[in-house]
Amino acid sequence: SKKLYLSPSLLACNFADLQADLAKVEMEADMYHFDVMDGVFVPNISFGFPLLAAVRQVSRKPLDLHLMIIEPERYFQRFKDAGASSITFHLEASKHPDQALRSLRDLDLGAAVALNPGTPVCLIKDLLPLCDMVLLMSVNPGYGGQKFIDYTLGKIKELRQMIDERNADCLIEVDGGVKLHNCRELVAAGADVLVAGTEVFHHKDPAACLREFRRLNL
Ligand code: DX5
Ligand code: ZN
Repeated sequence: SKKLYLSPSLLACNFADLQADLAKVEMEADMYHFDVMDGVFVPNISFGFPLLAAVRQVSRKPLDLHLMIIEPERYFQRFKDAGASSITFHLEASKHPDQALRSLRDLDLGAAVALNPGTPVCLIKDLLPLCDMVLLMSVNPGYGGQKFIDYTLGKIKELRQMIDERNADCLIEVDGGVKLHNCRELVAAGADVLVAGTEVFHHKDPAACLREFRRLNL
């Protein structure tokens, strides 16, 4: 079967001892999902450049940035300098998403666009050739620990079909309410990258949790 990428979300870590939480999953994670929130695009504020730079110092894994901020293009260079490997910005937050995706390519960063649950998949049809990945939000962005919104499963299938029809070189990432109990249907629907925060870092054994995600999808 095709490769499944696991991107544990650092939003669910213990920030007073982040290095210990990273050490628990470093062997099993494919990358780390890093949620940046500005309190404007979403009703919550998380973290930014200093924490990203600190994570870059203690881990070799790719850092999968999810920018939940307005005017994301203003900060691409600074997130690259702080250690980002790929940047996902929200379609709803960008006036010129085509240009933004091209800028990410020019910066040699993985280029990705995210869609809120209520944003239809058809809006990114023409952008697919510019995307290394599309992130489908399966909760309204802003907080960890929310329940998976069921209709987003249909959006994964629709995007899978759109990508396959065009033979586009683009991964599908799913973020929000991803758990061991629903991961198989997400992967069956076409997800390539699973983001999980609460499920992984609130687990008594985060590494075993990631191994279980893999075992369920062999
Ligand atoms: C929510 C963030 C998610 C969040 C997921 O806005 O984008 O990455 O950390 O958390 P869980 O896995 O707990 O739903
Ligand atoms: Zn996220």
